[in-house]
Amino acid sequence: MWGPEMSKEIMTLKKRVTSCVKCNLSKSRKNAVPGAGNIKSEVIFIGEAPGRNEDLQGAPFVGTAGQILSEALEYAGFTRSDVYITNVVKCRPPNNRQPLKEEQDACREHLLKELQIIQPKMICILGNTAFGSLLEGNSITKNRGKIIKKNDQLYFVTVHPAAVIYNPDLRQVLKNDLKFLAETLDKIKNGLQVEISG
Ligand code: URA
Ligand code: SF4
Repeated sequence: MWGPEMSKEIMTLKKRVTSCVKCNLSKSRKNAVPGAGNIKSEVIFIGEAPGRNEDLQGAPFVGTAGQILSEALEYAGFTRSDVYITNVVKCRPPNNRQPLKEEQDACREHLLKELQIIQPKMICILGNTAFGSLLEGNSITKNRGKIIKKNDQLYFVTVHPAAVIYNPDLRQVLKNDLKFLAETLDKIKNGLQVEISG
């Protein structure tokens, strides 16, 4: 169902997010940052939280981490406008601290709504916060580069683009992971078997 109801649903969600005051992050934000991109995308990318640039512009992944993500997406044959990109929490935590569990929980309804609208074939987890929030894991280390199935939903786990800023070796890791993800989506589309780890 990709008709007008669908775009109405996403508009309603965007309005809800931009006016949301469900947690304390609403007090310090300049702009809430709803997800953005193609709602027909087969894959949704989930980061942690908006940073400074995202808060100023009201759009996800538009700063340095966003440039790194875009570069990796292009390397894998995706474009930004092909895919849907969002975060665990939609408002910037002060000084970019990690969002608290209670903030993640407060914001979950928005993320679940995005998932319900998009119904992605694959959820791409970017880094530890999204991994903890969606798959209850502590560290991506053992799961990076792998496909996981939970409640009939497929997930792919990779590093957060911001991690590349501190560890340049991860730039190619992220690129290769997203390429593998694109190839995996192609296989699924063609009815081929893919290896699932958990
Ligand atoms: N880091 C994130 O996790 N999300 C953004 O939108 C930007 C930086
Ligand atoms: Fe609402 Fe989420 Fe922003 Fe908290 S972080 S105010 S729950 S949109």
